[in-house]
Amino acid sequence: MRLHALLNFIPFLSLVLAQSKEDVKCRCLYGEPCWPTEQDFTSLTSHLSQPLLRPVPPASACYPINSPSGNCSDAQSHRRDSIWRADQPGAYENINFESHLFQNGSISACYLNTTLGIPCEQGNVPPIGVDARTVEDVQAAVKFAGQHNLRLVVKNTGHDYLGRSSGRNAFMIWTHRLKNITYNAEFIPEGGSKDNAIFGLTVGAGVQWHEAYDVAAQNNRFVVGGISASGSVGAAGGWIMGGGHSAFSPKFGLGVDNAVEFTIVKPNGDYAVANSHHNQDLFWALRGGGAGSWGVVISVTYKTHDLLPMILSVLNVTFPTLDAATSVATELVGLFPKLSDLGWGGYGALSNTSLLMGFMSPNVSWADVNSTILPFFDFAVNATQDPNALATTIPFANPYELINPSDDAGLQNAQEVGGLVELASRLLSRNAAEQRAEETARLLLSFDFVGINFVAGGAVGLAEPDSVALNPGWRKAVAHVYTSGNWEEGTSAETIKEIQRGVARHVRALDPISPDSTTYMNEASLYEPDFKKSFFGDHYDKLRAIKQIYDPNSLFVVAEGVASDEWDDTLTCPR
Ligand SMILES: Cc1cc2nc3c(=O)[nH]c(=O)nc-3n(C[C@H](O)[C@H](O)[C@H](O)COP(=O)(O)OP(=O)(O)OC[C@H]3O[C@@H](n4cnc5c(N)ncnc54)[C@H](O)[C@@H]3O)c2cc1C
Ligand SMILES: *[C@@H]1O[C@H](CO)[C@@H](O)[C@H](O)[C@H]1NC(C)=O
Ligand SMILES: *[C@@H]1O[C@H](CO)[C@@H](O)[C@H](O)[C@H]1NC(C)=O
Ligand SMILES: *[C@@H]1O[C@H](CO)[C@@H](O)[C@H](O)[C@H]1NC(C)=O
Ligand SMILES: *[C@@H]1O[C@H](CO)[C@@H](O)[C@H](O)[C@H]1NC(C)=O
Ligand SMILES: *[C@@H]1O[C@H](CO)[C@@H](O)[C@H](O)[C@H]1NC(C)=O
Ligand SMILES: *[C@@H]1O[C@H](CO)[C@@H](O)[C@H](O)[C@H]1NC(C)=O
Ligand SMILES: *[C@@H]1O[C@H](CO)[C@@H](O)[C@H](O)[C@H]1NC(C)=O
Ligand SMILES: *[C@@H]1O[C@H](CO)[C@@H](O)[C@H](O)[C@H]1NC(C)=O
Ligand SMILES: *[C@@H]1O[C@H](CO)[C@@H](O)[C@H](O)[C@H]1NC(C)=O
Repeated sequence: MRLHALLNFIPFLSLVLAQSKEDVKCRCLYGEPCWPTEQDFTSLTSHLSQPLLRPVPPASACYPINSPSGNCSDAQSHRRDSIWRADQPGAYENINFESHLFQNGSISACYLNTTLGIPCEQGNVPPIGVDARTVEDVQAAVKFAGQHNLRLVVKNTGHDYLGRSSGRNAFMIWTHRLKNITYNAEFIPEGGSKDNAIFGLTVGAGVQWHEAYDVAAQNNRFVVGGISASGSVGAAGGWIMGGGHSAFSPKFGLGVDNAVEFTIVKPNGDYAVANSHHNQDLFWALRGGGAGSWGVVISVTYKTHDLLPMILSVLNVTFPTLDAATSVATELVGLFPKLSDLGWGGYGALSNTSLLMGFMSPNVSWADVNSTILPFFDFAVNATQDPNALATTIPFANPYELINPSDDAGLQNAQEVGGLVELASRLLSRNAAEQRAEETARLLLSFDFVGINFVAGGAVGLAEPDSVALNPGWRKAVAHVYTSGNWEEGTSAETIKEIQRGVARHVRALDPISPDSTTYMNEASLYEPDFKKSFFGDHYDKLRAIKQIYDPNSLFVVAEGVASDEWDDTLTCPR
């Protein structure tokens, strides 16, 4: 009898298991029968402050069948304009993330270059979305996506280098118009007391750094933020949740070290405050646990700093020989630990033919420059014997004169955006810089080009590694180093895949500079051999557990984000 019962039980068990697997459904995509009806959308709209968005790739204006009223020359002339791109719900800053490359080699895209003769398609631009202006808008959108099991995408400025703000046939929440900014010289985190008061700057989810800088400057305060031509990166989206670096981080810490409070619409649609008094686990996760994984952030409050004068020192040299390049690059790498500890940061571009490096720090004197930076500049000028070498130092009354100029017409042409690009990167560890400077320099020079974000060390290294979710490897780093793969519109799928394999090889090749394979998730590759380790280090398991509490169904899932490995490559079906 017993045996008989057992035999019956086994098929039953298989049935139960098969059913429970079926219960974990794939996300519903636009075009599928499960997609909400017009009536469902009408009912959603009745809870929204704005009409629904129908985002389209910006180049669709050049294909009148799709968009009869479009202005093609407008789209083409703003290709490299990061502010313009951020203002379009269907535009992305790196335009490859507007298109979709299928496994079978087909590409769905809409190219600005109409002479290619390729028809315009929607690609990875979500076809429908919510133009969120209020907390209630976001709540209605999140609940709607949850109820209909939609593939959900949160888009802010569209700067993401891993395409995490686009998604084929997904439903979009556009946070760009959540533009509130308030400065409060006595900001008290909710639940805290007067003793916790700070000079706080609260920025809404759609605020961009140039706007945050304007308000901070009006109040004579400095806020650590993203630095790019036009200041178009979001101040309360991917930047902060991924870590948030700045050349001023060696002096004042990373974004995550300066954030004191978040407000958020959680995956269940509830609005909440996360700070050191409320939802501490979520507060921890939001500081480096990666964007797009925890709900929709509504605002972030940053601690601000005294506005201080600053100095910029720039070196621009060309290398006559590989030996000269090696000796200059070795000297540079070896200098990062000491300089960062003195509060210097900066940005650079290095290849076997040239180095362009800008160092900057607030609150330093000419004497400081003479004793720290100038010896290196002298060394480089002598080693290269470059007659056109540029080695110059410029003081600024405050950092905004440099990073947020009121007339940024020149910066518009910086060509930082509008390309088709993927990155490969690693954080440069202090240990490699100190102990293996020459080996590191030789490795960096083996790439066509490396970008150097000198944004770690100093104050970044002093923060308690477990105080925030950010990969603890950041605390042992002195810089972030990246290289890229680039292509043009119209490139064949075969060639793109070849370039992508090259990016994957670059990731592995950079490993020696970061013994723990640590990197900055916001400027990284889609082909990380182990993204959990590289992006989150030993904080991953705790993050996964926190996600289970707030988002048990993984409504919020992004490429190489927490729990993303439990989904297929298009983040549509559970594995
Ligand atoms: C030109 C350029 C310059 C850059 N400069 C810097 C720099 O100086 N320092 C630096 O650290 N990084 C820099 N970055 C990288 C930047 O941090 C990332 O691209 C980041 O993802 C941008 O976030 P975003 O919100 O502006 O962009 P988006 O692409 O719109 O969003 C990025 C990610 O955040 C999620 N997200 C956005 N808003 C929310 C929200 N409110 N709630 C939940 N999830 C949200 C999205 O779903 C997506 O996963 C730069 C990138 C570019 C292209
Ligand atoms: C189209 O865009 C161009 C470039 O931005 C602009 O000069 C022109 O006025 C626009 N035309 C129309 C009809 O809006
Ligand atoms: C490739 O796959 C896509 C999506 O399934 C399909 O639309 C397209 O027709 C396919 N292309 C080829 C060449 O088979
Ligand atoms: C557009 O594509 C054509 C054909 O490949 C090419 O010759 C031309 O240079 C491209 N134009 C631009 C602006 O990239
Ligand atoms: C923006 O600020 C206004 C005025 O203080 C306030 O009424 C509104 O609720 C704020 N919006 C959000 C999304 O916080
Ligand atoms: C650096 O030097 C190169 C070669 O002389 C030059 O082409 C480039 O414009 C210079 N860049 C800056 C920012 O000075
Ligand atoms: C700026 O420098 C002055 C003089 O060295 C020093 O007293 C002050 O503490 C410094 N301030 C900051 C924020 O570093
Ligand atoms: C720094 O060095 C420059 C050039 O070498 C010199 O002119 C200047 O007097 C020095 N300044 C200080 C404060 O040492
Ligand atoms: C200048 O460089 C040459 C060779 O590159 C080296 O021999 C010399 O010592 C250097 N001089 C100084 C002052 O560093
Ligand atoms: C310099 O780099 C280029 C591009 O990567 C490469 O083709 C060239 O061989 C390198 N030169 C030397 C001397 O290593």
